[in-house]
Amino acid sequence: MARLTGKVALITGGARGIGESIARLFTKHGAKVIIADVLDDLGQSVCESIGLEMASFIHCDVCNELEVEKVINFTIDKHGKLDIMINNAAIAGELKLSILENDVSDFERVLDINVKGVFLGTKHAARAMIPARGGSIITIGSICSAVGGVGSHAYTSSKHAVVGLTRNVAAELGEFGIRVNCISPHFILTEATKPILEKHPDLYSSIHFDLKGVVLLEQDVAEASLFLASDEAKYINGHNLALDGGFTAINSSFGLFSRGRAARTTTSEP
Ligand SMILES: NC(=O)c1ccc[n+]([C@@H]2O[C@H](COP(=O)([O-])OP(=O)(O)OC[C@H]3O[C@@H](n4cnc5c(N)ncnc54)[C@H](O)[C@@H]3O)[C@@H](O)[C@H]2O)c1
Repeated sequence: MARLTGKVALITGGARGIGESIARLFTKHGAKVIIADVLDDLGQSVCESIGLEMASFIHCDVCNELEVEKVINFTIDKHGKLDIMINNAAIAGELKLSILENDVSDFERVLDINVKGVFLGTKHAARAMIPARGGSIITIGSICSAVGGVGSHAYTSSKHAVVGLTRNVAAELGEFGIRVNCISPHFILTEATKPILEKHPDLYSSIHFDLKGVVLLEQDVAEASLFLASDEAKYINGHNLALDGGFTAINSSFGLFSRGRAARTTTSEP
């Protein structure tokens, strides 16, 4: 059953990876989507493969307020409204393990795209949604939104920040029937994470084992976005939905339910 029929969605960073997956699923569910990205050729070709009657591409650097404003205006001119805003564009930045090696310029670049970009996307989406008295704004966070020790200092700072922004804006915009939420996935192999995995195979090789036999995919983030964007989630607001197999809820370092111990307990039972 199509769950977004008649809806209009804007997806930043939709030219590839998780954003592309969200665009493809949303159009399957009847939404018209606008992909806003800095990768013009890729974004355009994704829209062509979806079908230009359902998907349009527009160049946008999410750090640039004029460009973000232009994208929202383009959406309103083309479709007359904006129902769903997906703040997905972000960069991982370089993973330098010592803070002493972290340059302020790299830190600022990550914060600029990952936080200022989300602020601008949220602000200008709200500009379109407030008069319509409704909408759903979803920001893609990360497990680095909830715990430390998984990503770079800059990335972790930025992903914590967007959860705070989500909650604060949710507090304001609920009055207008606009829901503001966050989705925080575990590690997924994409163009953004491939270089990190290649550089630090030792750090990232065993991270998929929290929920045995399940590997998180881009499509899973798309499914979670579909739910939060749809009317089925009409009472969910200010929420950070962890999509991590329990990673940020469970501290297995105590060892009570460690895999080895569970196996031993099971085999000793009659
Ligand atoms: N891959 C993972 O493991 C993972 C895990 C948790 C959260 N996330 C988050 O999911 C989102 C998507 O990540 P991904 O893995 O698909 O990455 P990706 O690099 O494949 O896609 C990100 C997209 O954002 C675009 N982008 C980057 N800077 C931009 C800018 N200034 N303006 C407009 N567009 C810009 C890129 O061109 C790209 O198309 C990000 O917010 C990321 O932090 C990813």
